[in-house]
Amino acid sequence: MQDKLFDVSGKVAVITGGGGILCSQMAESLAERGVKVAILDLRAEAADAVAARICEKGGTAKGYAVNVLDKASVEKAKDEIVADFGTVDVLINGAGGNKPDATTSDTMSFFDLPAEAIQWVFNLNIVGTVLPSQVFGKIMVEKGKGSIINMSSMSAFKPLTKVLAYSAAKAAVSNFTAWLAVHINQNYSKDVRVNALAPGFFLTQQNYYLLVDKQTGNATPRGERIIDHTPMGKYGVPEDLIGTLVWLISDASSFVNGAVIPVDGAFNAYCGV
Ligand SMILES: NC(=O)c1ccc[n+]([C@@H]2O[C@H](COP(=O)([O-])OP(=O)(O)OC[C@H]3O[C@@H](n4cnc5c(N)ncnc54)[C@H](O)[C@@H]3O)[C@@H](O)[C@H]2O)c1
Repeated sequence: MQDKLFDVSGKVAVITGGGGILCSQMAESLAERGVKVAILDLRAEAADAVAARICEKGGTAKGYAVNVLDKASVEKAKDEIVADFGTVDVLINGAGGNKPDATTSDTMSFFDLPAEAIQWVFNLNIVGTVLPSQVFGKIMVEKGKGSIINMSSMSAFKPLTKVLAYSAAKAAVSNFTAWLAVHINQNYSKDVRVNALAPGFFLTQQNYYLLVDKQTGNATPRGERIIDHTPMGKYGVPEDLIGTLVWLISDASSFVNGAVIPVDGAFNAYCGV
């Protein structure tokens, strides 16, 4: 028997950064549950490849070339998505990440971090979450129902060493999640919810260079410390996010709003002693 409480079939979900590692898994897993997925990415070919994989398996998906930092580009995609799928029920703000230039290291001190690199990370993570929330959130408040899911991080709770801009930007994403949940409820709709996932450590492109030694393929000291501080003793895999994602989209979480949910093997719960 299918549990109605967790049923997400028939919904239309927009996933920014949907060509990436975590969000392509989200797109595929939601499509398997009957969600129609619009996959938005700066890399159009990556978005199209994910959409093609979903369609081959009988799901409904389409890729859209979008820069989440360019509101006109997000608006254009919105018009196409509404024409293609009729509406939008869910927005997953997945586009985000860090870059080595905005990270302190043996060769880059805090005092020399370039302003452009800091701004790049701020823009992508926080402005790139706000703009799609404006564009697609408007559809949700007009129909009086919807769910926005942002991507926060462990670095939002307590800043991780080295990644200054990323930590501050993800703290802003958590802050914005709470802000928008309250703002929408107070001004527009009691049934549009805004929550965030805060993934623990997943080995992906954005952190690989920090966690795995290029020469040996072994864990770096930072990688070892992360596993030591993750009581479940491992990195997450993209599939680990799906249960929480489906719960946040479905009516099973109908009174959960403005929350940032860690999916982290207890990393955030552990004080280190
Ligand atoms: N990997 C982790 O361990 C981890 C942990 C916590 C949070 N996160 C967050 O989860 C999200 C997804 O992470 P991931 O590891 O899958 O990253 P990823 O780099 O694999 O995917 C990010 C995607 O965003 C796209 N993108 C970048 N700039 C864009 C822009 N301006 N407009 C549209 N698309 C753009 C990229 O092309 C890419 O496909 C990010 O917000 C990331 O910060 C990741």
